[in-house]
Amino acid sequence: MNSMKPELGVCYYPEHWPQQQWAADAAGMVASGIRWVRIAEFGWSRLEPQPGQLDWAWLDQAIAVLAAAGLKIVLGTPTATPPRWMLRQHPKLLAADNSGQVRGFGSRRHYDFSYLPYRAEAGRICRLMAERYGTHPAVAFWQTDNEYGCHDTTLSYSAAALKGFRRWLAARYQNIDALNTAWGNVFWSMEYADFAEIELPHLTVTEANPAHCHDFRRYSSEQVVAFNQAQVAAIRQHDKSTPILHNYMGRITDFDHFELGDDLNAASWDSYPLGFLEDRSEEGDAWKQRFMRQGDPDFQAFHHDLYRAVGKGRWWVMEQQPGPVNWAPYNPAPLAGMVRLWAWEAIAHGAEVVSFFRWRQAPFAQEQMHAGLLRPDSQPAPALAEVQQLAAELQHRAPLHPEASAAVAIVFDYESAWAWETQPQGQNFSYFRLVFEQYRALRRLGLSIDICAPDTADFSAYQLVLVPGMMHWKPGLQQALKQSQASVLIGPRTGSKTADFSIPARLPPNCQTLIDVTVSHVESLRPDVGIALHNHSGQIQHWREYLQPGTTTEVLLSAADDIALLVQSEHYFYLGAQLDAAAYQQVMQQVCAHAGLATVVLPEGLRLRTCGTEIFAFNYAADSVSLEMLSGVYDFQAKQLAAAGVAQGHLQAHT
Ligand code: GAL
Repeated sequence: MNSMKPELGVCYYPEHWPQQQWAADAAGMVASGIRWVRIAEFGWSRLEPQPGQLDWAWLDQAIAVLAAAGLKIVLGTPTATPPRWMLRQHPKLLAADNSGQVRGFGSRRHYDFSYLPYRAEAGRICRLMAERYGTHPAVAFWQTDNEYGCHDTTLSYSAAALKGFRRWLAARYQNIDALNTAWGNVFWSMEYADFAEIELPHLTVTEANPAHCHDFRRYSSEQVVAFNQAQVAAIRQHDKSTPILHNYMGRITDFDHFELGDDLNAASWDSYPLGFLEDRSEEGDAWKQRFMRQGDPDFQAFHHDLYRAVGKGRWWVMEQQPGPVNWAPYNPAPLAGMVRLWAWEAIAHGAEVVSFFRWRQAPFAQEQMHAGLLRPDSQPAPALAEVQQLAAELQHRAPLHPEASAAVAIVFDYESAWAWETQPQGQNFSYFRLVFEQYRALRRLGLSIDICAPDTADFSAYQLVLVPGMMHWKPGLQQALKQSQASVLIGPRTGSKTADFSIPARLPPNCQTLIDVTVSHVESLRPDVGIALHNHSGQIQHWREYLQPGTTTEVLLSAADDIALLVQSEHYFYLGAQLDAAAYQQVMQQVCAHAGLATVVLPEGLRLRTCGTEIFAFNYAADSVSLEMLSGVYDFQAKQLAAAGVAQGHLQAHT
C-alpha cells in the first residue's frame, strides 16, 4: 500500500500587497505549518499590463521570496481573468447568456469557451509562463485557469458558440437527414435542410427539442475540455514534467469533469461548506439552521470522493473555507473547530494537500467581506489557530493509507446531469440531488463510498455498486457490472433514453441482461405530496415509476398502493422511485444486507470514513454525540464526540 503524508497550503496574492510584506507573509505561512502556496491565477493585468508588454519582475520576486522561505508553489495560469485591454483586441471574446445578452467586463470568467482567438491567447500566456517558470525548482504544480464553469459560464449563446456548434453537428452527423432522424425533427415540422439553419437551443417559443439541447450540452462540455487541453499543450511545450491540476467547484456538473481530468495529473476542488449549504442545498430551513455553522455533513465528502475519481486517485482541496464567505445568501461564521474538521475529513478521504483560501483577507474589491487566515490588519483570524493545530497533528502522526478503503461504489455521469436538466419532467428532479441522496443514505449507514466514472471497467473491489439515474447505458457498463460479483442497485430513471434522447424501444431500464423489469410509465409528484410505503416508514417523493417485474424478478418492497418499488433478480436490484430519508434507509439496509455489508444507523451529524485500517469519525452536529453504537466494531477511545470533533480509531480486528 502507498503511504501518504498530507500537507497544508494556502492561496496567496502577492500582487495585492506591498513587496516589503512578502517575506514576512512567507515566514508566517511556514511558521504555521504551511508547505504549499498557490499564486498568480488572477494576475494577468500585472503580468501583461499592455498587449505584448510582459512584466515578470514582480512574479520573479514573489516566487523567489516564497521559495526562499521553503514553500512549494502552485502556479496558476491567469486565464479566468482576461484583462481589459484584451477586449480591445478581441471584442467578441465575451460570452452571452441564455437571453443572448452579452456578459460584461468587471468581474471574472467573462470569456467564451467557443471563441478560438481567446483560446489562442490563453495558450500564449501559458506558454510564456511555462517558458519562464516551468523549470523553477520551487514551482511544483500548475493550476490551469480557475473553477471552469463557475458563475454559470459553461454554456454561452454567442455567435462563436453558434458557429462552433454548427461545425460540431456537421462533423457528428455528416448529413442533415441523419440529424433530423436522430433528433426526431419530423415532430412539429422542425426538419432542417442544412446545418447552417440550426440555431442554438434558446429563444424558442416553447421548449426546444431535448435532443437539440442535449447535443448543445455535449458540444459545450467539449469546448471546456478543449480549452483546458490548449493550456496543457502550451505548458508542456516548455515543461514536460511538473504536474498540472485544475481547481473544480462544488455542485457544478455543466461539463464532463472526468473527460477534462484525463488531460491532467491530479484534481483539486474548492470546498466552501457553509457557502454551499446556503447556496446549493435543497434541504429545508430546519436542516440549514441545524448545520448553518458546520455545513452539510455529506456535501464535502461527496465531492472528495467525486474528485478523487476525477483525479484518478490524486487530488487536493485547493481552497478550504476559513471563515465567513461573501457570496452566499447568508454568511455565518463556522463553529469553532470546523475548519480543522473539514480539513481532517478531506485528509481521511485521501487528499494530498488541503490548502486554505486565503492567507489574508483583502480590504478592497469584491471579496473584502471574505475571511482569510489573517485579518486585513495582519492579525490572526480565528481559523489560523485551527490550521496551526492541524499542522502539528499531521506532523506527529503516522502516514495514512487512504486507497482501496470503500466497499461501495456509485457511478456518476455528467451527461445524465445535463439530460435531467433538459427534461426534469417535474421541476424538483435533479440528477445531482438523486445521486447525492443515495450517497447520503449510505453514509448515514456508516459506509465509505467511492464515486466511479461511467466508463469504469472493473468493479471487482466493490460489494455494492449503485447506478442511479443514468440517462443511457454507456457501452461496456452492463458488461463490467456483470463481470463483478457486486450487488448492483439500478435506478430510478436509469436506461430511460437512447444516446439520441429518445425512449428506448424496449422501454427503461433497458438492461434485460441484468434484470428483467420494465418501467411501463412514470409520474412526477408535487413536492408537498408523498406516497407511503407498504409496511415501512418513509415515503416516495418527487418521482415514481410503475414497474412490471418479469417472471424471474421478485418484488422486495412496494408502495402502500401495492405498486412495486424495489425488485430483485439474483444480485441485481431496481429501484423505481426517489425517496425520503427514511425510505432510502430501508432500501439501502436491505440491499447492503444482500451485499454482505454491515451497517449501523448513525446519529444525524455523525459521519465515518475508513482510511486503510483506520476509521475517522466526524461530528457535524452542533452538540456532542455518543460513539457507543460503534463499540464492538471500532476501537474509538472516546465514548462521546464533541461538536466539531474528530476521532480516530481502528477496526477491532486490526487493533
Ligand atoms: C472561489 C474562487 C476564489 C474566491 C473564493 C471565495 O470560488 O476560486 O477565487 O473567489 O471562491 O470564496
